[in-house]
Amino acid sequence: MAIERTLSIIKPDATRRNLTGKINAKFEEAGLRIVAQKRIQLTKAQAGEFYKVHAERPFYDELCDFMASEPVVVQVLEGDGAIAKNREVMGATNPADAAPGTIRAEYAESVGENSVHGSDAPETAAVEIAYFFSGLELVG
Ligand code: CDP
Ligand code: MG
Repeated sequence: MAIERTLSIIKPDATRRNLTGKINAKFEEAGLRIVAQKRIQLTKAQAGEFYKVHAERPFYDELCDFMASEPVVVQVLEGDGAIAKNREVMGATNPADAAPGTIRAEYAESVGENSVHGSDAPETAAVEIAYFFSGLELVG
């Protein structure tokens, strides 16, 4: 499997509960390297742009409000097959369906407030990384 990079976000429900370190430990234990990371507060418009693929979904407005409600930690994870590996460590979108030991099984509060975001494919990973980071900020 090739070395990949993926965009991860530790969402407001998790930063609020001081879970950044515990979530980062899950990534590192899985062999994912955090090669860029910053804590930022999104505006609703910035959250809306990031999640625009979901603009027609009923949860979109609530999702944008939530993502702008408190700080998030945006990060780039690197590793062998990082995109799929990160999705595995995250667990299913709905924590009720997430496998034991995954971040969402352990920490998510609901299907909406589910602690982490992870890119779902190489094309989206490239776009999402570029949304938050310049090349100079990526130190592998
Ligand atoms: O984050 P993931 O890729 O697993 O799921 P998604 O289908 O791409 O949805 C993006 C985000 O929208 C989720 O992580 C949830 O925060 C939110 N969502 C929601 O609030 N209600 C749903 N029924 C589905 C997703
Ligand atoms: Mg998604």
